[in-house]
Amino acid sequence: MRNPKSVELLNKAIAEEELALHQYMYFHFLLDDMGYDLLAAIFKKIAIEEMKHIEAFAERILFLGGDVELGKLAGQIQKVQDPQKMLEIAMQSEAEAVELYSKWAMEVVAHDRDIGTEQLFKKVVMDEERHFETFEREFLNLQKFGNQYLAQQAMERSKKNL
Ligand SMILES: [Fe+2]
Ligand SMILES: [Fe+2]
Repeated sequence: MRNPKSVELLNKAIAEEELALHQYMYFHFLLDDMGYDLLAAIFKKIAIEEMKHIEAFAERILFLGGDVELGKLAGQIQKVQDPQKMLEIAMQSEAEAVELYSKWAMEVVAHDRDIGTEQLFKKVVMDEERHFETFEREFLNLQKFGNQYLAQQAMERSKKNL
């Protein structure tokens, strides 16, 4: 196996991504059940992007000759019902991912001069920054428009049932 430090950090990244994937799908199910289609769709779309991050990290681990560790979530799913809290948790999760992957990008270079893995972490950081922005936009909309923001989504759902 080449670059053991890179493989270790890539597996840690997979555990972070798995937690985000599960957390966002959990929020997606709840929001869909509550009839908030827009928010539900955003969480689903970003969850799918986190799944693709798992795939990219796993491919890199296999390329380096390491073992892919799946099913080790980096924490507990937070069972929250309030949409504003969901967005806060998501923003926090994205900010943490940006911080961790930025740090790990530098570590894999310092340790193994592994610029391939560095590039991958940098690319994923850009995605996580975009995710943060998406969640933040909805968070600010919710703050600005309050219950109207949610009511409108619920009404859109009701119209679909006509
Ligand atoms: Fe991700
Ligand atoms: Fe993300």
